[in-house]
Amino acid sequence: MQDKFKSSTVYQIYIKSFCDSNGDGIGDINGIRSKLPYIKSLGVKYIWVTPLFCSPMADNGYDVSDYRNINPMFGTMEDCEKMLSEADELGIGFMFDMVFNHTSDEHEWFRKALAGDPKYMDYYIFRDNPPEWSSVFGGSAWEFVPSLGKYYLHLFDPKQPDLNWDNPAVREELKDVVRFWKGKGVKGFRFDVLNLTSKPANLESLPSGAGASFCKDGPHIHEYIRELAEDSGITDMITVGEMSSTTLENCIRYSSPESHELSMCFNFHHLKVDYKDGGKWTLMPPDLNELRRIFSQWQEGMSKAGSWQALFWCNHDQPRIVSRFGDEGEYWKESAKMLATFVHLLRGTPYIYQGEELGMTNAHFTDISQYQDVESLNYYRIMRENGTSEADAIAVLGAKSRDNARTPMQWTSGHEAGFTAGKSWLSVTGNYTDINAEAEESDPDSILNYYRQLVQLRKDYAVISDGDVRFIETGNEKVIGYERRLNGERLVVLCNFSGNDEKVTGVDVKGKVLIGNYSGTHRMMKPYEVLAILEG
Ligand code: GLC
Ligand code: CA
Repeated sequence: MQDKFKSSTVYQIYIKSFCDSNGDGIGDINGIRSKLPYIKSLGVKYIWVTPLFCSPMADNGYDVSDYRNINPMFGTMEDCEKMLSEADELGIGFMFDMVFNHTSDEHEWFRKALAGDPKYMDYYIFRDNPPEWSSVFGGSAWEFVPSLGKYYLHLFDPKQPDLNWDNPAVREELKDVVRFWKGKGVKGFRFDVLNLTSKPANLESLPSGAGASFCKDGPHIHEYIRELAEDSGITDMITVGEMSSTTLENCIRYSSPESHELSMCFNFHHLKVDYKDGGKWTLMPPDLNELRRIFSQWQEGMSKAGSWQALFWCNHDQPRIVSRFGDEGEYWKESAKMLATFVHLLRGTPYIYQGEELGMTNAHFTDISQYQDVESLNYYRIMRENGTSEADAIAVLGAKSRDNARTPMQWTSGHEAGFTAGKSWLSVTGNYTDINAEAEESDPDSILNYYRQLVQLRKDYAVISDGDVRFIETGNEKVIGYERRLNGERLVVLCNFSGNDEKVTGVDVKGKVLIGNYSGTHRMMKPYEVLAILEG
């Protein structure tokens, strides 16, 4: 089963910002269809597309009001079917995004619940005296409904009420949704915040705190995931669960071939190494020792257990990696390539988030009016209420906001970066005249062409797709190194995470350079240099 995705790479599309076909400023299905040849040219096997279902878009589609219909903003069911079959002809499978922890408050189940229908009230989590929990997006996780005299749980926005997975009828409904899309020819699934779905028993007796922290990896989670996968017939498809603040032990089990749960998991520990005291809305340079420690623990732990990781730096919730752990200036190209190589040669399935393959940067918005993301707007308000200055709040958003990843895909140097003939729903990043697909297509040394090489290497070298992994000492905390081994072959990867020359000691390796971002090998690693050397 793992053979399906061991040598594959996945491309993630954030539909609203990918390509607009009709000039309304919003990316859509026909826009995706027009770019399938581009995606094919990257060599990827799967496309994960963010939710395109009916939604009031309070959280850009992660608030679904109808799981079986297409949001008219994105197109029609007919467009969707064409998209699936055209991708199929190119040998690319779509993975759809199942948002099953919660629905929209405009979903008919929740409307019926609000009207007091007991059957549907039991689809959600209503309580009389809930604990004081905060939501992920800021503010309380409980919303009072005066007509019912009860509160409902929403770990995210009030417009995203949490489903009650302990109700078997809810689990049946969700399996039906999976079967529906499988029947349409979808080849895999991504499950949104899946490990938050099994809620703790005796909710009302729990202390105050962050709601999500009480709900992660809950009491029935393995049982529920296995049931969902087996009953909806997707155990042999590619599936990935988004796991919030999870543990290695749980992810080993979620993605073990024996447990019939998922193909792989996203976990986020490596993307918190620049959170000061664990807080997202802070500014701190990445702690490279911590980054190395986390990757070695997870990579080696998953490898020993035969489980599988999803490898990624970027998605629609994360700031752009080149701005975050790399360099937007002098070493823009070198650092983007180094960061790409670091994840693509690890053990697992790499995900490329739209625009990452171009080295797209953060948005550099200067005014709060440019932001649209619900989480960013909430935290801007909270920071201001807590006395943070306007300038400091904008600086934090500039580094941390999810909108950094959501600016339109930069296709050309023309109008709105070639994303739309109209006006984009979210401002284009100013550097699109330099950073765009058209320019990189014609440059053999571009970041885009480098990503194509990485995707191909995973197909060509079993040591990359199948080898064991072990992190190695480099004698320098700025240089993270690891080796992959298979059948007497050894691949050594050295990554300089700093903008200076760095010395490496104690690494003994001779062989051919499989890929790198400078020519030749040196005793000193150049700024953001990466080298992958194959022995044997
Ligand atoms: C996931 C999604 C994110 C969304 C949240 C709530 O983390 O990736 O975009 O806001 O879940 O559905
Ligand atoms: Ca459109």
